[in-house]
Amino acid sequence: MKQIKIQGGNLLSGTIAISGMKNAAVALIPAAILCDEEVTITNVPNISDKYALIEIIKLLNGQVTDQDATLKINTSDITSEIIPESLASKLRASYYFMGALLGRKKHVEIYFPGGCNIGNRKIDFHLKGFQLLGATVEEMEDKYIIHAEELKGTNIHLDFASVGATINLMLAAVKAQGKTIIDNAAKEPDVINVAEFLNNMGAKITGAGTNTITIEGVDYLHKATIEVLPDRIEAGTYLILGALIGENITITNIVKEHLSALLTKLIDAGVKMDIKENEIIIYGRQKLKAINVKTLVYPGFVTDWGQPMSVLLTQCEGSSIFEETIYENRMGHVPYLNKMGANMTLKNQTIKIQGPTPLKGQDVVASDLRAGASLVIAGLIADGTTLINDAEHILRGYERIVEKLTAVGAKLELIDIN
Ligand code: EPU
Repeated sequence: MKQIKIQGGNLLSGTIAISGMKNAAVALIPAAILCDEEVTITNVPNISDKYALIEIIKLLNGQVTDQDATLKINTSDITSEIIPESLASKLRASYYFMGALLGRKKHVEIYFPGGCNIGNRKIDFHLKGFQLLGATVEEMEDKYIIHAEELKGTNIHLDFASVGATINLMLAAVKAQGKTIIDNAAKEPDVINVAEFLNNMGAKITGAGTNTITIEGVDYLHKATIEVLPDRIEAGTYLILGALIGENITITNIVKEHLSALLTKLIDAGVKMDIKENEIIIYGRQKLKAINVKTLVYPGFVTDWGQPMSVLLTQCEGSSIFEETIYENRMGHVPYLNKMGANMTLKNQTIKIQGPTPLKGQDVVASDLRAGASLVIAGLIADGTTLINDAEHILRGYERIVEKLTAVGAKLELIDIN
């Protein structure tokens, strides 16, 4: 088990460079399975989810080299289509091996995916889409067996613009016979990054980033390279931190348009920033005013920014409302922020936050990845010492978080208590 110990109250200044996007990287790595030759993925974040995915590829008899944020993956000789429980349950994104292996081998046996416990997180749209493409889906007690004699292009309407389902169905359809149209597709940059990778291999995908994605099936996918886009969730987390306790923090390696919904809210709250195309200088410690925030699909306010943002709202003058609309159970941070001195009232998936309230260091628990990130921010702005238990959740999604924050003047350490 890991803990992060934080001595709060230090002002931060300097530069934080944003790493590659976790939620794109965790789809790009399984997507490599579809390629009949070697692929290269650059700007891969060094997070624990990456290691779990590499382990799966190696288990399937794929070759992987991992050097300086670049992965070279060759799965031309993969022999297995079975992913055991010990690996599938390590992360949510193991479900991308469903689409990838189905597309490549027409067969996959995979134990239930793991990941943060933030709601129901059903995968019914993925499974229904595989069936529409011609696969049979058997749901056993603890695993799925998905098989197709052949996959045929079809029309798939998603009831909700799910990021995971959109990507998984693109993966399954890319080598199907004929044309697949995914309607009400997710428009997130993660989807665009994966479509670009597949197109670089010779796939014929149009419309990624819009509501309707069209995929013309192809037989062979060749050698290709892709760069993982910058992580807008990591950038958002550090922007929120900078707004609270940054003297002068520069966040580099960003894509400004991916951050629009967050930047608008920060400006509304009174945060001062110098926003450029690839970097943002943030001048924290302004007087902030209460605002309302509601999570939505892209280009709306991303659910993954919600927990960090709620810490900012504890420091705004007046009464703010934060509403989570994507997941049913993404409020694990609230009792701990209240323990630290916040005034948050939770009802269903809405928090009323009365601010500003000073925060005090406490022993807390990271219930999930972004809850953990919110507690890091809270610990850094609090008086005294905060000890975050179950900190391994945080390392699943933030590359070298302790080192990056130490470099801008934060006092924190990672403790291994195994
Ligand atoms: N949903 C269904 N059925 C489905 C698929 C989704 O009901 O078949 C529901 C989910 O239960 C959820 C909503 O639709 O309520 C959104 O799910 P979506 O499929 O969009 O999300 P996801 O693929 O499970 C990815 C990221 C999440 C991120 C969301 C939204 C990965 C591995 N996970 O999840 O990331 O919050 O998209 O952007 O890419 C995180 O990084 O902390 C994280 C949770």
